[in-house]
Amino acid sequence: MLSYKDGYVSDITYTKGYYEALNPLKAKLVFLQQDQMFPEIENACELGFGQGISVNFHAAGSQTNWYGTDLLEAHADYARNLGAESNASLKLFDESIEAFCAREDLPDFDFIGLHGVWSWISSQNRGLIVRFLQKRLRPGGVLYVSYNALPGSRRKTEIRDLVTLFPDGVKNETSPTKGVLRAFERVSKFLDLSPRYQKSNPAVIELLKNLEGGSARYLAHEFLNENHDAMSFREMAGLLTEANMKFVGEANCNRNINSLNLTKDQRFALKDVDDPVLRETMADYMLNTEFRRDYWVKDNGLSENTFCSDEIEQTRVMMTAQKPKRPSHIRTNVGRVQLKAEIYSRLLEALDGYQMKSVADVQRALMMAGISIGRTRQALAVLSGLNLVSLVQSDAEAVASHTQTQKLNRHILMKDASLAERNILVSPVSGGGIQLTHLQMRFFEIAMDQGYDPDRWTLTETQRQDLVRTNLGKVRVTQRLTQDQIVNRAKTFFGDQKGFLSALKLV
Ligand SMILES: C[S@@+](CC[C@H](N)C(=O)[O-])C[C@H]1O[C@@H](n2cnc3c(N)ncnc32)[C@H](O)[C@@H]1O
Repeated sequence: MLSYKDGYVSDITYTKGYYEALNPLKAKLVFLQQDQMFPEIENACELGFGQGISVNFHAAGSQTNWYGTDLLEAHADYARNLGAESNASLKLFDESIEAFCAREDLPDFDFIGLHGVWSWISSQNRGLIVRFLQKRLRPGGVLYVSYNALPGSRRKTEIRDLVTLFPDGVKNETSPTKGVLRAFERVSKFLDLSPRYQKSNPAVIELLKNLEGGSARYLAHEFLNENHDAMSFREMAGLLTEANMKFVGEANCNRNINSLNLTKDQRFALKDVDDPVLRETMADYMLNTEFRRDYWVKDNGLSENTFCSDEIEQTRVMMTAQKPKRPSHIRTNVGRVQLKAEIYSRLLEALDGYQMKSVADVQRALMMAGISIGRTRQALAVLSGLNLVSLVQSDAEAVASHTQTQKLNRHILMKDASLAERNILVSPVSGGGIQLTHLQMRFFEIAMDQGYDPDRWTLTETQRQDLVRTNLGKVRVTQRLTQDQIVNRAKTFFGDQKGFLSALKLV
């Protein structure tokens, strides 16, 4: 049987996920896209940080003072241990939202984030968070919050209702994780007996099938808490008005561009809707949105809230993908959308060679080719949505954070196999996580021990066996590689990707 604390599953720890939307620099890019002033980030806070990967990466990758809490002691202990490795500015607690938000020793925050928390806590806790925003978020400060959205996540609510029909499935098992999997099996078997239900609820059946074989950790935390409250954008906006919050945009920049996501008729229907909250809610119906990851800003009473020219001069961007290629199209709700070759070629040219460029410089370069500032900013947003481009912080901040990221990355590579498995390291330049492949992580690990000249490497049998499991592109392929092939690949990685690696200062 599962145990609960404050209505939340407490005997299965959560997955070790990294969420870049919690990186204030990612938020800044969305603010830039929406031409909305962004604050200086000195103090930031993450509520319900789970295993604390994101909060640790963002603290190690910057000079921001990060605070946070998570109810589960095992989560907070793990997160604090990572923090002790990087020595970044982190104050992490294992307190409930209620206890943490009542603390009198917290600073005012410029950024407050919570990912995967809002829909799984009680409405009383949501109320406490709104009061925390009123009290502790500075005017002009940023909120990032994700949640199960309506109408798309109704099918999840349906699955949750079905799973809770069979609490015995969970109770009778000795191990909590086995119990969770057993409860889901019971639902599948039960629905095999319900053909009429299946016919009327194809979306529920499809999701249930997709969840089969999923991790018990995810299933328990998504479906088996006492609270599982999906919400429409309108309801969310209503709750947040009490803290004076205004919507800025979705963390996925591409979702903020209607021409990429909505048909002509859908855009026409939204054109004359003056109320932005109603517009966004209608778009969620048009797109059947299931999950939202939104940035909000606390009203600061100023009428002029746009990015000023000084800021545009200082805000810098850079390629953060290995071997970046000009994207010819993207896939969205409306299908395959062509991207204008002349805009994207010029943009990639302006950012060639992993140079850091101010947004103002990029705008100027494209303006010479007759491309407007608006189009340039949207194209930057699209490239960021495709994970090709990121905002980068000042050189001073990157230099000051480098030792912290080096220490954390070394710890991940050498001592924390369960985190190294996620294939992400932190960069002091982008201030956040950078996705690598399994093979590249192993190359780094060996290089830390034996240096960056693969010709001089001596591989142990364990290393050789591990290196045969490689990840080619998106498909995980198991290959048997010879020592020579491994060495050649490592040379190519450290050689061809030199620009990428040194620009991002991953090690
Ligand atoms: C689905 S997990 C998400 C964790 C993390 N944000 C992530 O995305 O990896 C929700 C987290 O909220 C925490 N939590 C739930 N109720 C809480 C409460 N009342 N106070 C503090 N933390 C809570 C849980 O312990 C859990 O780590």
